[in-house]
Amino acid sequence: MYPDLEGKTVIITGAATGIGKACAIRFGQEKANVIINFHSDKQVKETEKIIEEIEQHGGKAIAVQGDVTKEEDIKNLINKAVEEFGSLDVMINNAGIENEVPSHELTLEDWNKVISTNLTGQFLGCREALDYFLENDIQGSIVNMSSVHEIIPWPHFVHYAASKGGIKLMTQTLALEYAPKKIRINSIAPGAINTPINAEKFSDPKLKEGVLKLIPMGYIGEPEEIAATAVWLASNQASYVTGLTLIADGGMTLYPGFQAGKG
Ligand code: NAI
Repeated sequence: MYPDLEGKTVIITGAATGIGKACAIRFGQEKANVIINFHSDKQVKETEKIIEEIEQHGGKAIAVQGDVTKEEDIKNLINKAVEEFGSLDVMINNAGIENEVPSHELTLEDWNKVISTNLTGQFLGCREALDYFLENDIQGSIVNMSSVHEIIPWPHFVHYAASKGGIKLMTQTLALEYAPKKIRINSIAPGAINTPINAEKFSDPKLKEGVLKLIPMGYIGEPEEIAATAVWLASNQASYVTGLTLIADGGMTLYPGFQAGKG
């Protein structure tokens, strides 16, 4: 547990499902004030359950609908945080999407959709949080959800890999730019995690087996294991850490093909 997170206000985008949801619950367990951003009308019920769980742990939470690709929606998230809890301390830019298409068939529409959600959406989250931190003299913390695909090339997912590669240098650039203000900006690179984004793939035993072969630790990660890295990065325990991509991937980026002395 990280006692300094108690009473801090954190926005988490795309927090109705998967990794974002696990982060919301974990920050709630740390007794933080959580703004659960959700995208679709269909997610309202899920956010109500998350709020209930956070409150059971002694945290506070509200759900705010919004599309991370829209400037006004991101500004609204920050306004709602300040209205409800008086401040903003931590921004978790987590919302992201992917779809599989051979690159020569990828439409401009699909390219733009993934880049605007995964990269532009995270930039807008960073920009608005930074503006608020600077205006209010807050030494806040930003955590961007990247992926092992900021390192590992991924055929059929060129837009996704490009977005995550972009997040890497965006994070490092912003970290360098705002370090003098003691604002820390880091990212997390999860490997294969058991969330709705992978539901179809992991429900097919053959596809799941293929993924497992890429993970030296031999299991698919749980969203709570990613949330555990997010609270650490946001906490004072990481006070000297900025510009880092924290890889949480069961060893996926360690060239698993070389395991057992091959190569
Ligand atoms: P998920 O599909 O459960 O979560 C993504 C969330 O983003 C959903 O709740 C969705 O409604 C929301 N979202 C999509 N478009 C949005 C928009 N325009 N505005 C606001 N919210 C929007 O999947 P997961 O796995 O929890 O993904 C979370 C993040 O983790 C993503 O950035 C993803 O790229 C990243 N990630 C996931 C990995 C995995 O294996 N599950 C591995 C590496 C990275």
